[in-house]
Amino acid sequence: VLEIGCAVAGGGHHLSQPYPDPFTHDEPYRKVLAAEFTSLSAENQMKWDHLRPAEGVYDFTDADAIADFAAQNGHVMRGHTLLWHNQNPAWLEQGDHTPAQLREILRDHIQTVVGRYAGRMQQWDVANEIFDDSAALRTEANIWIRELGPGIIADAFRWAHEADPEAQLFLNDYNVEGINPKSDAYHALVQELLADGVPVHGFSTQGHLSTRYGFPDDLAANLRRFADLGLRTAITELDVRIDLPEGGEPTAEQLATQAEYYRRTTEAVLAVEGCGSLTLWGVVDRYSWVPVTFPGQGAATVLRDDLTRKPAYDAVQHAL
Ligand code: XIL
Repeated sequence: VLEIGCAVAGGGHHLSQPYPDPFTHDEPYRKVLAAEFTSLSAENQMKWDHLRPAEGVYDFTDADAIADFAAQNGHVMRGHTLLWHNQNPAWLEQGDHTPAQLREILRDHIQTVVGRYAGRMQQWDVANEIFDDSAALRTEANIWIRELGPGIIADAFRWAHEADPEAQLFLNDYNVEGINPKSDAYHALVQELLADGVPVHGFSTQGHLSTRYGFPDDLAANLRRFADLGLRTAITELDVRIDLPEGGEPTAEQLATQAEYYRRTTEAVLAVEGCGSLTLWGVVDRYSWVPVTFPGQGAATVLRDDLTRKPAYDAVQHAL
């Protein structure tokens, strides 16, 4: 079974225009999420800064709304994310906790959050972006690894597994589509974790692609080498950004190249055994994070602002 997923926009993040929260206010958008997908991820609503407004406090309002919507529509969910160096609240990053306290804070968070959605979450991104682009562990930027050492990664997986023995637990990152030093680092880490009996079940690549760079030809080969270790794989955040010409409208040629990237990604997913999940990081251009994060780039999703289909939409559909 291949789940086709989408990140649910909202949670007060990144919107370049003052749109009301898409998930709670845009009914046509909700219809697209319900009708076109079988899996949902929270784009921001299950991150620490959202779930943990203050120390000792959990706010599940927005996360639960997505979980309820998923249940109503028969969608599975991917949980995102538990151990990351970004979007952590100030009380955590700038607090003066001892290592023992931090460990307790992380354990409580993982068991509380994973436990809350146990049985409803197909996959969890337990660890997100723990390696940097030079393939080194983020021993400075990631508060957990910095303060508690790399062993905390294994503990995070163990706590998550205790809280939800059914959920498939993933390592997730960007720039690991192809075989390169960064994906090599994951390949080595996975073998260590498995040798230690750590419940790690999956390796996923986000898939934030750009038509500026070539398509990662070895995507399927890379996923396959993780499958060979006994892991599931997934594409968790696919979008294909375009360098927008003056005026902001992509050319037909750019849209064709983008469609090819979407098609080839879908084909790679279908070609790899154990790769059961393909999630798009947004479905409509107006809510995409790309223009805000990469100035001058955009049009990265499969639907135009008016919800009409771009060539990329048809490319995915034909490939399936
Ligand atoms: C992004 C969201 O799309 C934005 O809304 C937010 O402002 C920043 O984070 N890798 C990840 C995602 O794992 O969580 C990021 O999402 C995109 C890159």
